[in-house]
Amino acid sequence: MGCDFRIRKDKEDKMDKKDRIVFATHNKNKLAEIRNILKNYDVVGLRDIGCETDIVEDADDLQGNAKIKADFVTNNYHLNCFADDTGLEVEALNGAPGVYSARYAGEGCSYHDNVVKLLDAMKDITNRKARFRTVIALNLNGKQYFFEGIVNGKILEEEHGEGGFGYDPIFQPDGYDMTFAEMPMEIKNKISHRGRAVQKLVEFLHLVS
Ligand code: IMP
Repeated sequence: MGCDFRIRKDKEDKMDKKDRIVFATHNKNKLAEIRNILKNYDVVGLRDIGCETDIVEDADDLQGNAKIKADFVTNNYHLNCFADDTGLEVEALNGAPGVYSARYAGEGCSYHDNVVKLLDAMKDITNRKARFRTVIALNLNGKQYFFEGIVNGKILEEEHGEGGFGYDPIFQPDGYDMTFAEMPMEIKNKISHRGRAVQKLVEFLHLVS
């Protein structure tokens, strides 16, 4: 009887204990967003594991940068981890700014500096096709996996909307007549590059947990 109880209690404790996984980010908003979706996991950020390092992202593509961040955590802290990297890829600019989206207008530039530089680079270009792409690298129990999310759209000729961040005021996703900066956040999160990549990650983690 006592033994049965202990076995049942051990089982319950095991079920209650969530697996810990690190999201390699210092960004509190991204962390809160993913915690809200991945409720079966104990998702922690870099600061929570005592990592204050600004991990150098010097790969020449998104997958490489996501891998660098995830591997940094797994190699140094021996923990399961995922990391993301995003870029805006403009067809007529051969995929630029791409992996350099954050610092397109130079080191330490603002989101607005990047928008101004992109509008200037495209002022005589009629092909306005562009896409946002996010790659997530996941290191789970000794294996590595990648997930990709894409949203296609176009670059407008001027800024519209006050919401969002980054290139949102000039990016209009296909099928919508507003920019990401004009769109309610719940809709953006559903159709966005990051939303789609995260959805794939979540489906995978739910399958294996
Ligand atoms: P990160 O990899 O998420 O840090 O994104 C790199 C850069 O891409 C950011 O600094 C932004 O300039 C841009 N970016 C990423 N996601 C978005 C988005 O959802 N909207 C607009 N710009 C974005």
